[in-house]
Amino acid sequence: MAISTPHLLGIKNISTDDIHTILTTAKEFKEVINRPIKKVPSLRDITIANVFFENSTRTKLSFELAEKRLSADVINFSASGSSVKKGETLLDTVNNILSMKVDMVVMRHSSPGAPHFLAKHIKANIINAGDGTHEHPTQALLDAFSMQEKIGDLAGKKIAIIGDITHSRVALSNIFCLKKMGAEVQICGPKTLIPKHLEKLGVSISHDILETLKWCDVANVLRIQLERQHIKFFPSLREYALFFGINKSMLDKLDKEIVLMHPGPINRGVELSSDAADSPHSIILNQVENGVAVRMAVLYLLAQNKIK
Ligand code: CP
Repeated sequence: MAISTPHLLGIKNISTDDIHTILTTAKEFKEVINRPIKKVPSLRDITIANVFFENSTRTKLSFELAEKRLSADVINFSASGSSVKKGETLLDTVNNILSMKVDMVVMRHSSPGAPHFLAKHIKANIINAGDGTHEHPTQALLDAFSMQEKIGDLAGKKIAIIGDITHSRVALSNIFCLKKMGAEVQICGPKTLIPKHLEKLGVSISHDILETLKWCDVANVLRIQLERQHIKFFPSLREYALFFGINKSMLDKLDKEIVLMHPGPINRGVELSSDAADSPHSIILNQVENGVAVRMAVLYLLAQNKIK
């Protein structure tokens, strides 16, 4: 198994074949990490730096665990507590890390395009772990993997992405991934949180949460990202929850199978009530479990395309 790229910078520019190869490989790694001995020697002698300039719980831990399960050597860098606080540039920071003979860099950064910039300037495989409001490719891949596991082939399936689309890198990567896999995609949220250009990506738009829930097989609900909202996009969280929040009774009343997803972290009581997030409809913790297998697949496949 091989993919055609040395970097994973986004879903927009990777091929559908590469997506299928990653998901098929992830299935094999999921089997591996459910064995009593979860570790394989695939990345022995490969050194990976996890470079996080923005906060993370799931992505950071998931990459670190994936790397360790593959027997890679791992170093972790967080901007807080580093010399970035003394004014060191991104390029200087990463070049200093690379001079310690690092082969792969997993990076999260608040600036869209930061991993693309690195890929042009340094000799290492680069994996985008989220760049501002742009892309979060491994989240989209683990979401697709989790959907496939639950409802099978995604071609023709109806997937809704609900919430703060404007500020979400998960939304854009999911749209690119799901469209490449042949799914129908509907975006739902208040007008102020859906960018006008989105229809050009071949998705339908709705502002009616009940209509969207009735339409879809899967509802992937996104977090309201208050930290990126420097103006008011809606009157209050209470009003958002009233018009776009999802609770278990709404899901039960649909009287059909519906899969509920969320990339985390959840604002409980805002986009999802606790009884919905923790209901049998929810596969939110399966997404987290699958993240490790999907990231193992990405790291393993990229390592076959070593940068010289
Ligand atoms: N889903 C996700 O990216 O979560 P973290 O910000 O905790 O990594």
